Amino acid sequence: MSALQPVQFSSLPRDGVAVVFGASGGVGAALVENLRAGDGFSHVMALSRRSEPAFDLTDEASIARAVADVARHGELRLVIDATGFLHDETQGPEKSLRDLDAGKLARAFALNAIGPALLMKHVLPALAPTGKAVFATLSARVGSIGDNHLGGWYGYRASKAALNQFVRTAAIELNRRRPSAICVALHPGTVRTQLSDPFGKDGLEVQTPQTSAARLLGVIDGLSADQSGSFFDHLGSPIPW
Ligand SMILES: NC(=O)c1ccc[n+]([C@@H]2O[C@H](COP(=O)([O-])OP(=O)(O)OC[C@H]3O[C@@H](n4cnc5c(N)ncnc54)[C@H](OP(=O)(O)O)[C@@H]3O)[C@@H](O)[C@H]2O)c1
Repeated sequence: MSALQPVQFSSLPRDGVAVVFGASGGVGAALVENLRAGDGFSHVMALSRRSEPAFDLTDEASIARAVADVARHGELRLVIDATGFLHDETQGPEKSLRDLDAGKLARAFALNAIGPALLMKHVLPALAPTGKAVFATLSARVGSIGDNHLGGWYGYRASKAALNQFVRTAAIELNRRRPSAICVALHPGTVRTQLSDPFGKDGLEVQTPQTSAARLLGVIDGLSADQSGSFFDHLGSPIPW
């Protein structure tokens, strides 16, 4: 077990608001725990489908309401989207083209790409207007097209690739309006959560959510504005698109 190491942010102006969307998830809960153990923010807000305010990725009005609510607490310095979907009792990663199903693919895109894009639509204009501010969304290395040597997992891969394109495109627009703000996609590594539980992890470094969260926050602290629109792993190494 790894001990909790609160990240001491040196690059983000102090006393702003930090928000984690998807705080009920394995990595999301660990991000909240780490942020709350530190003293860099006036408020650390943990949002999920069951929080107050609640949001659902498939309901844009709930996203808009949640963003407006958190922005009332102060300047939004750090917003992390830790939502994501790989499997549930009705669907899981496809091994073959034979397994593709339009409804299941649409669901993967709705949860992994369209929902986070709508989050960006509402969050990016609400970020603190001056100084460093960060929006980071949790993507996945398997969403990298350049790094895809194994195949399979069509819907998850393709929806995360779409998410990456949304991040890149939104970062370009954000830079025109708020050059000191940052929008990135981050890969948390292989993390022991319900999302990864059913799958083999041979040869992979498997982390606790706490270790992943501490690493991700460290990466965020180290980001500079010229790195906006990029895709990094939990150690801060760039991942090919
Ligand atoms: N774990 C890994 O090894 C790994 C590897 C690579 C990338 N990632 C990525 O890292 C992120 C976090 O993964 P995790 O392992 O922490 O997964 P997780 O424990 O399954 O958490 C997923 C989160 O997404 C939320 N969510 C799902 N559907 C939603 C909806 N319709 N509206 C609002 N929220 C919704 C869940 O909320 P509920 O609690 O309400 O369901 C939960 O908070 C994901 O983007 C995942 O793809 C994880």
